[in-house]
Order: sequence, then C-alpha cells, then structure tokens
Amino acid sequence: MDRKILAQKALEMRKYSYVPYSGFRVGAALLTKDGKIYTGCNIENAAYTPTNCAERTAFFKAVSEGERDFQAIAIAGGPGDAGEPLKLCSPCGVCRQVMMEFCDPETFEVILVQSGEDYQVYLLKDVLPMGFGPGNLGKREPGKNMKDQ
Ligand code: THU
Repeated sequence: MDRKILAQKALEMRKYSYVPYSGFRVGAALLTKDGKIYTGCNIENAAYTPTNCAERTAFFKAVSEGERDFQAIAIAGGPGDAGEPLKLCSPCGVCRQVMMEFCDPETFEVILVQSGEDYQVYLLKDVLPMGFGPGNLGKREPGKNMKDQ
C-alpha cells in the first residue's frame, strides 16, 4: 500500500469541498483491497443535517459501484485552502460507524494526514473500540465475506 499517494489524494480532494457554512475543507481517499482509490469531499447544506462528510462521500461512491472490500482511508481536513500543514482531522462517529459496516476493524487503516509526507496511521479497532457491527445482528463479522453481501 502506498500511503503517500493516498495522503496526497486526500489533500487534493479538499479543493472540491462544498463548505459555505464551516469553511472547514475535508478530503478523503479510500483504498480498496484490489488497489482502486475512491475519493470524497465534504458537502454541506443550508439545513445543516444533510451535510455529508468526506469519508462517507468516498465510501458511498465506492459501495454504489459494487466495491465491498477496503484496506485504508486517508483523511485530510482543516480550515482554509491548500498550503500550510493541517492539524489532524479525526473522523466523526457517524463515519467510524460506516467504516465498521464495511471494514475489518483488525486491519483497516485510518490515515490522518497533515501533509503529503506527514501522517499518522491508526487501526479502525483503535478509533472505534467495542464498535457495533453486522456481527451483533448475527450477520457476518465486519469486513469478512463481503463478496456475498
Ligand atoms: N467533516 C468531515 O467531512 N469529516 C470529518 O472527519 C469531520 C468533519 C466535515 C463536516 C462539516 O462539513 C465540516 O467538516 C465541519 O464539521
């Protein structure tokens, strides 16, 4: 896995953010197990609650095109435009829950990006301890046997 390329893509995607309310631009790059990258940005709304985070944009693009198996997501977010290094942008609880649906918490990487060369790597199980997932409903374990779903 080339984490640098994923980090770079997440940074690039910030330019497409639609953020008239917060001005907080987030980009995401989601890597499938077979090496494809799906990107996303945050998309805000005047009614606020319909706002979609960059991470979920990337997941929903990928899942809606038939992808089910993922290995990592890079996330870059902060106020303002490209240039200065960012503070870490940790995914919101809703996005962590969407990751839990489709990814193996033991292996899926959440990569928090500050610049193209500077990022921190976490596992989903560490950013969402004791997460509730498909296994709790007697379905498959998260991230396992996804091709049959
Ligand atoms: N946001 C994301 O896109 N991803 C995150 O991980 C955190 C928050 C967005 C939602 C909203 O458009 C803006 O950042 C401020 O909360």
